[in-house]
Amino acid sequence: MMRSLRLPPGVQQCAAAAARSEIPLRRPVASRVSLVSRLFAMASPSYGPKWWTDKTTAVVTGGELGQRAADEVKQAAVAKDQHGSLTLLVNNAGMAYKGDVFGLPEATATLATNYFGTVQLTEALLPMMPDHQGRVVTVSSRAGLTSIIRDPNLRQRFSSARTTAEVDALAQEFLAAVQRPELLAPQGWPRSMYGVSKLCLSTYCRTLAARMEQRGITVNACCPGWCRTDMSSQGGNKSAAEGADTPVWLALRSPDSTGGLWGERRQLAY
Ligand SMILES: NC(=O)c1ccc[n+]([C@@H]2O[C@H](COP(=O)([O-])OP(=O)(O)OC[C@H]3O[C@@H](n4cnc5c(N)ncnc54)[C@H](OP(=O)(O)O)[C@@H]3O)[C@@H](O)[C@H]2O)c1
Repeated sequence: MMRSLRLPPGVQQCAAAAARSEIPLRRPVASRVSLVSRLFAMASPSYGPKWWTDKTTAVVTGGELGQRAADEVKQAAVAKDQHGSLTLLVNNAGMAYKGDVFGLPEATATLATNYFGTVQLTEALLPMMPDHQGRVVTVSSRAGLTSIIRDPNLRQRFSSARTTAEVDALAQEFLAAVQRPELLAPQGWPRSMYGVSKLCLSTYCRTLAARMEQRGITVNACCPGWCRTDMSSQGGNKSAAEGADTPVWLALRSPDSTGGLWGERRQLAY
């Protein structure tokens, strides 16, 4: 199913079909209102000078993750543009269980969607990005600040992680701890599957930013704030459009910074 995205004039649309088969996902709710449909809806001067052209290709994830999705993005981009280059990738897709749900299948699904699936798609698409122009913007969350990790040594491992393998290992350690819940607190893990998945995601973005510096590709993560979408059961204090402001701003403004976590257009300490 091709998904229609609203992009500013001049930015080509390119979206992939759903590709959930390779990831063991359990979806808690059907999403109807999503930041996806709002991203790029507002290309106002506050996003900086227009630098994109009708050759610029953007992908905003939502309902598509994993290798099959990456392959479909590549095919769609090649069909639209012989060079098949991808300038913008906005990792927006994400999920959270509602209420007090906590367990290994749920933690596995949360990490698979929010962390592993996003990493897999990003890594598969990076070779398509033009040097000195490509941008990756990942919608993460303040729910995943390092302060959620109570053990200082464990927290330090997140702060000092330099490779995807190190972040993968931390994600796997969390899943192992979920199997033995009595170990969670003593090991310093919070009882938050969503928080840990987003902490892994923001940490990955920081390591990726360093890895992409030589290619001149900027990588930033952000928190949209608490938004009225299906994820929050429409309970947020921001509209979806207001939440989309910082990801859109990061995607469209002139690149002068990389490796940060942002909220309301300001860099957050994490
Ligand atoms: N809403 C908030 O208060 C809030 C706060 C902080 C961060 N965020 C983050 O903002 C992003 C957007 O969330 P939202 O508020 O717009 O939530 P949402 O309304 O639940 O939308 C989530 C989006 O992710 C896609 N998605 C969910 N599970 C998926 C899966 N297993 N595989 C592939 N795609 C999947 C959905 O696709 P379908 O449309 O096909 O279901 C939908 O497009 C997420 O990364 C979320 O963590 C949201």
